[in-house]
Amino acid sequence: MTEPLGFDTLAIHAGTAPDPATGARQVPIYQTTAYVFRDADHAAKLFNLQEVGYIYSRLTNPTVSALANRVCALEGGAGAICCSSGHAAQIMALFPLMGPGLNIVASSRLYGGTITQFSQTIKRFGWSAKFVDTDDLLAVEHAIDDNTRAIFCETIANPGGYISDLDALAQIADRAGIPLIVDNTTATPYLCRPIEHGATLVVHSATKYLTGNGTVTGGVVVDSGKFDWSANGKFPSLSEPEPAYHGLAFHPALGSMAFTFHSIAVGLRDLGMTMNPQGAHYTLMGIETLSLRMQRHVENAKVVADWLAQDPRVDFVTYAGLHNSPYRKRAEKIVPKGAGALFTFAVKGGYEACVKLVDHLKLFSHVANLGDTRSLIIHPASTTHRQLEEDAQIRAGAAPNVVRVSIGIEDVKDIIADLDQALTAATA
Ligand SMILES: Cc1ncc(COP(=O)(O)O)c(C=O)c1O
Repeated sequence: MTEPLGFDTLAIHAGTAPDPATGARQVPIYQTTAYVFRDADHAAKLFNLQEVGYIYSRLTNPTVSALANRVCALEGGAGAICCSSGHAAQIMALFPLMGPGLNIVASSRLYGGTITQFSQTIKRFGWSAKFVDTDDLLAVEHAIDDNTRAIFCETIANPGGYISDLDALAQIADRAGIPLIVDNTTATPYLCRPIEHGATLVVHSATKYLTGNGTVTGGVVVDSGKFDWSANGKFPSLSEPEPAYHGLAFHPALGSMAFTFHSIAVGLRDLGMTMNPQGAHYTLMGIETLSLRMQRHVENAKVVADWLAQDPRVDFVTYAGLHNSPYRKRAEKIVPKGAGALFTFAVKGGYEACVKLVDHLKLFSHVANLGDTRSLIIHPASTTHRQLEEDAQIRAGAAPNVVRVSIGIEDVKDIIADLDQALTAATA
């Protein structure tokens, strides 16, 4: 085989091989909690991280490791950790970097649940987030202070479909000596590989396009392996002896794998946000068709967005792939194969019309999810973003007059026909 392997080959083969015990071609679901040590010396070596292997499935499991290695290969990282959900992956990404009194600078355009996680829940750990419009690069720079430990954004922001300027944000992070963390859920590595744009950590909700059919809750953190955690004393959990792991200094000892090993040996061990092997198996199977699905998702999304944009019942469409989108140029740089399949549109008639639209759709499913083969819709202001004040909803791209769609891979004429009849009912 020619090296390096192409993306589509990696999506099918990376992280897996025929099962050495049985020859099983598909990755078996290793439904086991623990693994028998060869002898006491083997056990000691595993616990000392002198040998890589399996101890206990809260830390590692062969099916889950296969998925971590596959996503790692697709993102071009050095190591990856699977977690029980996308939200768990976000906490796991921050865990080795943060401590009481420390903060992150986060985009104000994030999934509503992430805004709540960052504005409310992480406060209980003594962490905090400063939300800024990441299109305003000066505001991002000004928000960073001595206690900032990361910049966090989404490649294609949920719900608006806006594109983040990853290269510019990575440069700001570099100058501040902190990592850029990118939630790449809505783009997937098929549309964008944030590490190539300077990101240090990439997080995923595997619940969405990676699995692709609405069957799994899961998350992944990928580390580029390129960040120097020892450069400036800001990341003592990685650069100094870690009291939570008998004084091991992860970065000096493990170099580019420091973040990954810390996340397994301390993060998964003590936070326990572990992915289950059955979920990992489903996601592995989903990823085999990631490229094919994403091609059709973006193809359909472009046709639907163009159709909505010319419709008099619609005030505006936020799809970054529209010829007149302010994000068009950036989309060509960051997501050249297509601007994703997630966007919002404003229905004439505001909140009431949005609610009616959602109720009249037949092919679309009204669900709090995205990245399914099926077309999905939600009215964020009354659901995912309802905890936010109206001005925060507007800043997040979830104003009361917009609905969010996740365009599926059905026949595009059927998607449009469904929207057409529901728009008629909603705006009658
Ligand atoms: C962009 C994005 N990131 C993270 C999450 C959280 O993922 P999960 O639901 O798997 O915890 C979501 C969920 O919708 C999301 O849309």
